[in-house]
Amino acid sequence: MIIKEIRAVNFRNITGAELTFSKSFNFISGRNAQGKTSLLEAIHIFSLGRSFRTSKVAEMISFGADYFYLKLGCESDTGICLDIELSLEQGGRIRAKVNGDRQPGVSSIIGLIPSVIFTPGDVELSSGPPAGRRLFADYTAAQISPSFLGDLKEFRRILAQRNSLLRKISAGESGAGGLAAWNSAFVEKGASVARGRGEILSGLAEKAAAIYGEIRGGERFGLAYRCSFGNGESPLEEALAAALVRVSENEKRRGYSLAGPQYDDIALTLDDVDLRKYGSQGRKRLVAIVMKLAQAATIMEKRAERPVVLLDDIFSELDPETSAGVRRLLSGGHQSFITSPGKEQFDAVGDGGLELVVEDGVFEVAGVSGDGEERA
Ligand SMILES: Nc1ncnc2c1ncn2[C@@H]1O[C@H](COP(=O)(O)OP(=O)(O)OP(=O)(O)O)[C@@H](O)[C@H]1O
Ligand SMILES: [Mg+2]
Repeated sequence: MIIKEIRAVNFRNITGAELTFSKSFNFISGRNAQGKTSLLEAIHIFSLGRSFRTSKVAEMISFGADYFYLKLGCESDTGICLDIELSLEQGGRIRAKVNGDRQPGVSSIIGLIPSVIFTPGDVELSSGPPAGRRLFADYTAAQISPSFLGDLKEFRRILAQRNSLLRKISAGESGAGGLAAWNSAFVEKGASVARGRGEILSGLAEKAAAIYGEIRGGERFGLAYRCSFGNGESPLEEALAAALVRVSENEKRRGYSLAGPQYDDIALTLDDVDLRKYGSQGRKRLVAIVMKLAQAATIMEKRAERPVVLLDDIFSELDPETSAGVRRLLSGGHQSFITSPGKEQFDAVGDGGLELVVEDGVFEVAGVSGDGEERA
C-alpha cells in the first residue's frame, strides 16, 4: 500500500495541510510539540478507524474548532486507487466515505490500509510484562485466522466465569460441584488458544530472526513461544487438564485460575541470553521494532499487501549503525513515515525520500532526494 497524499483540516494542531508523500521514505522533523506525532496519528487513523493515542475522538479536533476533516489518497499494491475521507463533528461520531460513497460506520474502513506503527511506548513489548506479548501474539493470530479470534473470545469468557465461581468457592459462598463443567470447556478452548499462538509464533520467529540478522548481522535473535502448561510431549488438552488437577486445591483457596494460556509468554534472547534481564535499552528497542516488522511481514504474507510503516521517534536510542540497518530493511519496499525532533537523526540513516519540517502544525518540504519518481 502506498499513501500518496493527505489533506487535514482542524486535526490536533494541524489546522490545514495538504501533503504529497514519497513512496519510499518520508522523514518528518521538528522541535517537540510541533505536530509530528499528530501527522502519524492522522495517517494511522485510516487503518484502524480510531486513534492510537486516544479513545476520545473529540480530543483530535483542534482546540476551538467544531469539526475535523481528513482525506487520504492511496494506491494498493495491485494498483487500485482509493480516496478515503473521515470527518468528525463535535459531539458526533467519525463518518467515513470511500471513493465518495458514505459508509455505514467508520469500522467499514478497517483493513483497507494495513499499517504498523511503532511509538516510543512500544518498547514495552520487549521489556515490559508478559501481557503485552500475549496481546501481540493474539493480535497477529487474530488478523490471520478468524477461528482463532473466536476461540480467544470464548476462552476469555470461560476464564471470567471460572474465576467468578472460584471466587465464590474461596469465599465459602459456593460448593466446588460446578467447577467440572467449566473445566472441560476451559481445557478445550485454552488448548486451542495455545495451539494458535504456537503456530503463528513459529512462523513469526523465523521472520524476526531474519529481519534482526539483516539489521545487525552477527547477533542471533531468538523468539520462542513459552506455553505455561504444555510440556511438548503430551497433547495440549492433556497437559492443561493435568495442570488443572495440580493447581486445583490452590485455586479453590485463592479464588482464581492458576493454570492456562493466560500465563503464557514469549521468550526473547540475543545470542541465547535473556533480553529482558540483560539487554541494553537500545537493543530492547530494536527487538520491539523487529517484532513489529515481523508481525507486518506475517500479516503481509497472508494479505498480499505491503503495510505502511510508521515510526514515531525511534532513532533517538539507536546508534548510527543500527539506524542504517533499519533503514536498509525498510528500503525493501515498504513506504515509511519516520519522525524525529532533529534532522541530524536522519543523517544517520542516510538520505533518500522526502523531508518535511513541521512548525506549529505547518509542514514545509525541506528536501526531496533521489529523483522525482520517488514521489508517489
Ligand atoms: N486537539 C488539539 N488541538 C490543538 N492542538 C493540540 C490538540 N491536541 C494536541 N495538541 C497540541 O499539538 C501539538 C503537537 O503535538 P504532537 O504530539 O504532534 O507533537 P510532536 O511534534 O510529536 O512533539 P514531540 O517531539 O514532543 O513528540 C502539541 O503542542 C499538542 O499539545
Ligand atoms: Mg511526538
